Amino acid sequence: MLDKTTIDTIKATVPVLEVHGQEITKRFYQLLFENYPELKNIFNQTNQKMGKQSQALANAVYAAAVNIDKLEEILPTVKQIAHKHVSLNIQPEHYPIVGENLLLAIKEVLGDAATPEILEAWEKAYGVIADVFIEIEADMYKETEIQTGGWSDFRDFKVIKKEQESDVITSFYLKPVDGGNLPIYNPGQYITVKIENPDAPYHYLRQYSLSCKPNGSYFRISVKREDGINGNPDGDVSTFLHTRIQEGDILPVSAPAGEFILKAEEKPLVLISGGVGITPFISMLETVVAEQPERSVYFIHAAQNGAVHSFKETIQSLSEENAKINSYVIYSNPTAEDLKTKNYHKVGLIDLDWLQSVLPSNEAAFYFCGPDGFMKTVYQELKRWNVMPQDINFEFFGPSKSLD
Ligand code: HEM
Repeated sequence: MLDKTTIDTIKATVPVLEVHGQEITKRFYQLLFENYPELKNIFNQTNQKMGKQSQALANAVYAAAVNIDKLEEILPTVKQIAHKHVSLNIQPEHYPIVGENLLLAIKEVLGDAATPEILEAWEKAYGVIADVFIEIEADMYKETEIQTGGWSDFRDFKVIKKEQESDVITSFYLKPVDGGNLPIYNPGQYITVKIENPDAPYHYLRQYSLSCKPNGSYFRISVKREDGINGNPDGDVSTFLHTRIQEGDILPVSAPAGEFILKAEEKPLVLISGGVGITPFISMLETVVAEQPERSVYFIHAAQNGAVHSFKETIQSLSEENAKINSYVIYSNPTAEDLKTKNYHKVGLIDLDWLQSVLPSNEAAFYFCGPDGFMKTVYQELKRWNVMPQDINFEFFGPSKSLD
């Protein structure tokens, strides 16, 4: 437990953090990789380049500082981050390294304003915050080991099938090399895949949602090829997976993790996806069809056009076979072929008027996932419709952000 002086000092530095938070975390990552270059194997270097991870860490540290005397208030956020840490196999011994470099960064960025009292208070506070993470992650590792029969880091999987889903999305079917069983994960969960590109100085770790219902035998991930636009290069990992990984290749994979999962309830289910955000919803949809065939489902998918629209046939046949599934397609930029065949329900972007025209009411469980702009729009429109907060569920691909 922290003493009152430490708590007061931490709280007094909150406004400073508000101003310098991202500068501190940016410097923190520079120091971290200078002092411990091997950690480049763990952190997503593309997120680093885009500044996404420093923003996410700044937000987490800021939330912890605001709530330093009542950390239980930020437990849901801590748990969501802890799932990601566990999926990446982050261990207790990593925490002092992060603490050391965070303090160095605070000292550098704040300069003279970082008095010995402030630094001492932050050192103590970091220790308390780190202990909360370490404890929660220890429980998660234990739970995963029990559920998976001993698998808590990376396990080798063979690519048994590679299948194109659209012009930009390809699925990889993965089976454990040891021939053992797979855990029954929660639909919506993700795995981390380790990619060892012989031409790159570090290996890469990336999370992908499992895109089929749990079956005990194989996993499936569906990866979007990130083509470089506006001067940005092609995605290192997605390009490597699409072009270099073939059937028969081996990929080390971590156990399923994540809290974006279907809650056990009966109310109508609305799954709203943009682009590759469709992947967790295929798993959820297949699961609902198998386990809750009487539940009404509204499957809404937004894509640029028919050429990049993945899982079209899968969704079409599931909705033809199950009267309770209602499927809708929105294209923002339809091709000439789309305009000819009218294979969509709306052209443009998703909005509240349209949602109200296809959904019976706002009393439903809403789940959404997609690109950042899409997430913001869907969230704002659901709030405008007064959807209950507990019925709004979403996941970011990549570091989380604020939707307000
Ligand atoms: C992800 C916070 C300690 C490695 C994250 C995220 C946050 C965060 C907010 C983003 C989660 C998301 O995807 O939305 C923290 C805090 C820590 C801490 C507050 C200390 C109390 C550590 C440690 C390590 C670590 C000790 C290992 C050296 C990572 C990695 C990611 C991550 C690799 C994935 C993001 C990426 O690769 O870009 N953490 N973390 N974290 N964290 Fe931590």
